[in-house]
Amino acid sequence: MKGIILAGGGGTRLRPLTGTLSKQLLPVYNKPMIYYPLAMLMLGGIREIQVISSPQHIPLFRRVLGDGSRLGLEITYAEQAEPQGIAQALTIGAGHIGDSPVALILGDNIFHGPGFSSVLQGSIRHLDGCVLFGYPVSDPRRYGVGEIDEDGLLLSLEEKPERPRSNLAVTGLYLYDNDVVDIAKNIRPSARGELEITDVNKVYLEQRRARLIELGHGFAWLDMGTHDSLLQASQYVQLLEQRQGVRIACIEEIALRMGFIDAEAVYRLGRELGASGYGAYLMEVATHAGAA
Ligand code: DAU
Repeated sequence: MKGIILAGGGGTRLRPLTGTLSKQLLPVYNKPMIYYPLAMLMLGGIREIQVISSPQHIPLFRRVLGDGSRLGLEITYAEQAEPQGIAQALTIGAGHIGDSPVALILGDNIFHGPGFSSVLQGSIRHLDGCVLFGYPVSDPRRYGVGEIDEDGLLLSLEEKPERPRSNLAVTGLYLYDNDVVDIAKNIRPSARGELEITDVNKVYLEQRRARLIELGHGFAWLDMGTHDSLLQASQYVQLLEQRQGVRIACIEEIALRMGFIDAEAVYRLGRELGASGYGAYLMEVATHAGAA
């Protein structure tokens, strides 16, 4: 399974924060926003990942994540010249996807909840068609909205409907088999001139090969499009990290847990971060895991 993180867009609703920095590099409490979707892909066992962003921001992502080798990953970069739709990530990323299945995640989405990595790994193992993740929201008109039967088969899907048929928002994590490359190539731009991910998902829906997994109570899904939602995400991460003494989306720790790198490597990464609490945490994790 290949991974794609879509981290473009103008970040217009977050101005002036996004004057020089990409939205997906803004801080969410103690780490850059892109760490959170990257952590999700890693927890799914995905190691070959392409970051797609605007030409002016790619050099910044490269500085933050490099080629991924420090985390036991292969990270490549591709440009989206203009934000012409989420589904464009699948045509830009076609070479990276090759003949594999792919997980696409939006660079401004945070997923956090008990057991999610095993749900993700299970969905990847048994993937046939596409798997979406749904989250009950109070304002479904802002999202893609799905309706499912008792087995999780997707029955209907609408993008930002006036009259939503359910309260299940389709989140920004999409798992696809390799057919998606051809499907994305063949969809047409919508009225707003974008290649809509919902139109890709509708093709799978028509084939009755689209499933939607409902993320239940106790699960957090946050997308960070506004100043308020950005602050709320930071506060959520701060609260959990301080109460539980663990770190959310600590990509070095996840790389260790997934067996991508060893404890010595994590210790070195922690030492490089010097006096920061994050660096100290990494050294502690590494020592626990047996680093000398
Ligand atoms: O967050 C989940 C929602 O994401 C889904 O429920 C919707 O079905 C889906 O269409 C999408 O809706 P949004 O209104 O949130 O999409 P938006 O245009 O804001 O794009 C989401 C992120 O993707 C944003 O961080 C910018 C990035 N993006 C977007 C487009 C259209 C790109 O990098 N390139 C693009 O061309």
